[in-house]
Amino acid sequence: MRRPIIAGNWKMHNTTEKARELVELLKPLVGASDVEVVVCPPFTAIAATVNAAAGSNIAVGAQDLFWEDWGAYTGEVSGPMLKDLGCRYVIIGHSERRQYFGETDATVNKKLHAALRHDLVPIVCVGETLDEREAGKTLEVVRRQVEDGLKGLTPDQVETLVVAYEPVWAIGTGRTATAADAQEVIAFIRKTLKAMYGERAELTRIQYGGSVKPENIAELMAQPDIDGALVGGASLDAISFAAIVNYKE
Ligand code: G3H
Repeated sequence: MRRPIIAGNWKMHNTTEKARELVELLKPLVGASDVEVVVCPPFTAIAATVNAAAGSNIAVGAQDLFWEDWGAYTGEVSGPMLKDLGCRYVIIGHSERRQYFGETDATVNKKLHAALRHDLVPIVCVGETLDEREAGKTLEVVRRQVEDGLKGLTPDQVETLVVAYEPVWAIGTGRTATAADAQEVIAFIRKTLKAMYGERAELTRIQYGGSVKPENIAELMAQPDIDGALVGGASLDAISFAAIVNYKE
């Protein structure tokens, strides 16, 4: 019912040449997969990645966008610009943007609507910090992020939306949430979305992110509410990312 989606977030890595090389290596390795495969290069490597991926089953996403379409916003990149480059997806509200660049649930919501306005599939990130988890606030934090960050969607947009649950303490640390812990929070995200939007939220895909590797992907994907992964470090290596995409083999 929900097609799995595995996305690689390259973060601030890869020149245009490296991006091309990585995609060329990946193409034959993931070509037989029925999973939706996405790579998200930095803005500067998007065009090269789109060119290299042409004709393959690898789609391209951006790591952020601004909520206005045009104007005097030095340094920002908008939805129409990403569409123009051939992007189909865009990550919104990654915890690194929340932590280092002051993103809030309110800015996430504006970016979400900008993405949908331009027919980009949004991958909206939510997740608690270590302090919040240790204070027993995981569900409270995630509910606030979902209710405020994902408000105002039409039923069709709820179906298009992809959410990534990324516990901040599991990102780049080698500490993965257990599959059962990830399932618990992801089921809670779906329950929250259902309270907002009804049964249509059964169709929203929810990924897990945080130290996903070839060794732990199968167990994560076996959970009933986990529909994919947002992969950081392991997506920079073609063999590792392909092994994650081909988790069924
Ligand atoms: O967007 C991806 C996540 O931040 C996960 O990164 O796989 O390096 O832990 P990681």
